[in-house]
Order: sequence, then C-alpha cells, then structure tokens
Amino acid sequence: MSKQVVFSGIQPTGDIHIGNYLGALRNWVRLQDEYDTIYCVVDLHALTVAQDPAEFETARLEAAKMVIAAGVDPTTSLFYYQSQVPQHTELSWILGTLTQLGSLNRMTQFKDKSDQGAANLGLYSYPVLMAADILIHHAHKVPVGDDQVQHLELTRDLAERFNRRFGDEFPVPEGIIPEHGARIMSLQDPTSKMSKSDPNQGSRILLLDDPDVVRKKVGRAVTDSGTGIEYNWESKPGISNLLEILSLFSETPVEKLVDAHADKQYGEFKQLVAEAVVDGLAPIRSAYASLEDEDVSRLMHKGALDARSSAEKFQVSVRQKVGLTGH
Ligand code: TYM
Repeated sequence: MSKQVVFSGIQPTGDIHIGNYLGALRNWVRLQDEYDTIYCVVDLHALTVAQDPAEFETARLEAAKMVIAAGVDPTTSLFYYQSQVPQHTELSWILGTLTQLGSLNRMTQFKDKSDQGAANLGLYSYPVLMAADILIHHAHKVPVGDDQVQHLELTRDLAERFNRRFGDEFPVPEGIIPEHGARIMSLQDPTSKMSKSDPNQGSRILLLDDPDVVRKKVGRAVTDSGTGIEYNWESKPGISNLLEILSLFSETPVEKLVDAHADKQYGEFKQLVAEAVVDGLAPIRSAYASLEDEDVSRLMHKGALDARSSAEKFQVSVRQKVGLTGH
C-alpha cells in the first residue's frame, strides 16, 4: 500500500524562530520516515507583504537552507519553492471560484493584517492559495502550528465542496498539530504568540542565534509575579511558556520538569531553559554552516522538477473534472 502524503509550507519572511521549529519544522522532519513528505518554501505567499527583490532572493535561499539544516532531507522529501510549480496557482484560481467571500472575511490572520493597514487582494486570497498548495498534492496530513488551523478548515471545506460538485478528487486533509509546541509564545509578552513580524527581537529566539544571544533572550524573558515553577497558563503564562520550551528541547514531559524544579528561583530555572535551547539548536547551526548555497539551489531546482511532474497528474484530473481538457 502506498504511504499517505504529508504537505506543509513555510514563508521565507524574516528569520525562522523556535516557534516555527517546535510547532512545525521538527514534526516535518519526524514525519519523513512514515509518510511521503512534501515541503515547500511558500515564496508567493510571502509576496503578500512588500519585499525588496534582492533581499527576497536571499531570504528564499536562507529559508530553504534552514529547513534542510533543521533536518528535512531533500533526497527523502520533495522540497521546492512554491513559485517554481505553477500548478499551485492554477488550482488556487479554480478553488477561488468555489470560495465564499464570507469565509475569507472570517479569517483572523487577514483581519489582523488588514487592521494594520496592509490589505491587498493577495492577502485576502492567501488561504485559497494555501488550500491549493495542500490539495494539488492530494495531501492527507498537514503538520502546522495552531495559527494555521483556521486556514486548514477552509482547505477541508474546499476539498469537500470540489468533490461534491465535480466528483471525488481530493482527500480531505487533516492537521497534525502537536499537543505541546503548537503555540510558542513571545518571550516579551507570553499572552501573544512568538512571531517573525514582532519588531521586538527579544521576543523570539532564532534558530541561528549565538549561544550568548539565546542566554540573553531567555534571561530577559518576561516572567510572572510570585515565585515557583508551575505550569498554569492563567496565572503563570511566562513560566508555562518556558516550561513548554524546556520540555520540547529536553524531551522531558512538563509534569516531570515541574516536579524536579518546583522550588527553583526564576533565574536558575531560566539558565536551565537557555542551556537546553542552546544544546537543541547546536546541530542546526552547524548543519546550516556546512551547507553551500549552490548545492541548495541545485537541490531546490531538482525538487521543483519532481514536484511539477507529481502535481501535473492531479492537474490533468482537475482540468478534466471542471471541463478544461483543451480540445
Ligand atoms: P509561517 O511561515 O508563518 O510559519 C511556519 C510554521 O510555523 C508555525 N508557527 C508556530 N508554531 C508554534 N508557535 C508559534 N509561535 C508559531 N509561529 C508559527 C506555523 O503554524 C506554520 O506551521 N500559511 C503558512 C504557510 C503555508 C502553509 C501552506 C502551511 C502556506 N501554504 C500549506 C501548510 C500547508 C504560514 O504562514 O506559515
């Protein structure tokens, strides 16, 4: 029996942080053994925010290198730049014709971004392109963080709607959302999520941060009033976030950590967290340093060719179903 297909994507905007890693990337790596895995640097999505062209070229390559350094093996997984596989955008158009404006109006990420005054058509239809990314590969599973759940719901709706209207084409994909790590919070405000776009650099730890920078950022992380190491998101969001980060990097359940460190001072506890993060990031940093730009570019081109031929067979089937066979 053939394996199920996993698909996920990451935007090449800003540097990749431990939220991206713990919520998504780390699972991408783990799923490679069990599934047919397809991963994508979603550069077209990133264009929904203005990018400097020269810097964008660099950011795309850096994102590709980070994903490989984190453990995605481009000889095992299909890995490529979204813009190099035009089947994504064609399917996005077709799915767009099945998308109700009301459902796009409800998307919280769109609402947040448009409140900041950055609304454009691409941002509005962003979730439709995301649905096309997933469906063009007939993916069954989608490993993402918590902030993508609403977009995934739309993807499922569109798959069902297409199947109902034109006949069975797409599996209805399910999210793989980790129980812990799906929503790593900002170190400076543990009530909002760690984000690439937060102007405060101290709010996030980047995968390539030097050990000393990691120590500084963890040391300055906002903690809670009172004392004691407790896992309680209501009364101790700062410590709970650090516990979660420590738990994931040290592969130790949160409850065990709480038992072991309940009486520690915040300062001492933060040192433990910092060292676990430093150790966890060390192999990624060294893998990144050993990657050559040209090798990665070559791999990405090869990935795009393979992804195109894989997407093409589903493109043909979609075209037939909607009445676009070209005779
Ligand atoms: P992006 O590039 O914003 O983030 C990449 C992945 O990181 C997760 N993530 C987090 N997880 C835990 N805690 C956080 N603080 C945190 N911040 C981000 C995201 O949930 C995501 O899984 N729309 C997507 C990219 C995309 C995509 C797709 C994903 C485009 N097409 C198809 C899956 C399938 C995005 O902006 O991810």
